[in-house]
Amino acid sequence: MKTDIIETKNLEISLGSKKILDDITFCVKENEIFGFLGPSGAGKTTTIKILTKQLQQSHGICNVNVAIKDIGILSDNSGVYERLTVYRNICFFAELSKTDLKEVEKVLKQVKLWEDKDKKVKDLSKGMKQRLLLACAVIHSPKLLFLDEPTAALDPATTEEIHKMLFELRKNGTTIFLTTHNMEEADEICDRVAFLNKGKIVEIGKPSELKFKYGKDTVKITFEDHTEIIVNKESESIINCLKDSSKKILSIHSLEPNLAEIFLELTGRELK
Ligand SMILES: Nc1ncnc2c1ncn2[C@@H]1O[C@H](COP(=O)(O)OP(=O)(O)OP(=O)(O)O)[C@@H](O)[C@H]1O
Ligand SMILES: [Mg+2]
Repeated sequence: MKTDIIETKNLEISLGSKKILDDITFCVKENEIFGFLGPSGAGKTTTIKILTKQLQQSHGICNVNVAIKDIGILSDNSGVYERLTVYRNICFFAELSKTDLKEVEKVLKQVKLWEDKDKKVKDLSKGMKQRLLLACAVIHSPKLLFLDEPTAALDPATTEEIHKMLFELRKNGTTIFLTTHNMEEADEICDRVAFLNKGKIVEIGKPSELKFKYGKDTVKITFEDHTEIIVNKESESIINCLKDSSKKILSIHSLEPNLAEIFLELTGRELK
């Protein structure tokens, strides 16, 4: 049984006169990539701020069972010094966390910035800067890493590099809490996801379980000539349909919804 690294129970927060988070209950287990998904304004960043003690909840329990020094954060307001080089910036973070400077080379190579280590941050592209921010967030090998939309507005190749790095971190024991609007990303990299809508969690589970739970009762049969038919999942209806056909079958797939479709079904909203 894996330990819970994060436990929240009935979390609530109001900012101004508005309730921003309402009855938020979830846990994050050791060594998982947990995705917090929801449209703009749902309350994702606010949740990260409570978990990292930048905001205090109005009600409920929030336990993060990791020492502050073992936490890494990548968020909108993560900063690096624009006029310093990539190398100086990451060394600064290494020194702050008393990390051996040998790690700097390793991490910069991991985010593919070693060749660019002498460039000033102001001369980096957006994707390069995002990789540097990630490198700074993980230089001390955190046990728990918070990533607030780590790949928003990045190109597919940079996104894939970041995903590979997250898998590597998980392999080495880091637990990751990330927010995203991107349901495909969540499906690809998260062990479990929570759907957040208007400050409330509407569903939590493994992507595969959710797709099964909200799955349709139909399968798609593709024949060797690439014609397709969609029939009910019941074996009787599949057999009946095949009796009438002399063509060979190429594949049979159950028609699963993707996470974006499930979110839409649950909330009536798209994840924009
Ligand atoms: N300091 C604040 N005072 C008042 N309202 C706030 C404050 N911070 C956030 N909010 C409100 O809380 C709600 C949730 O904001 P939050 O930043 O958590 O959303 P988000 O899910 O991270 O959105 P995005 O995907 O756009 O980053 C929004 O309605 C926002 O206007
Ligand atoms: Mg946000």
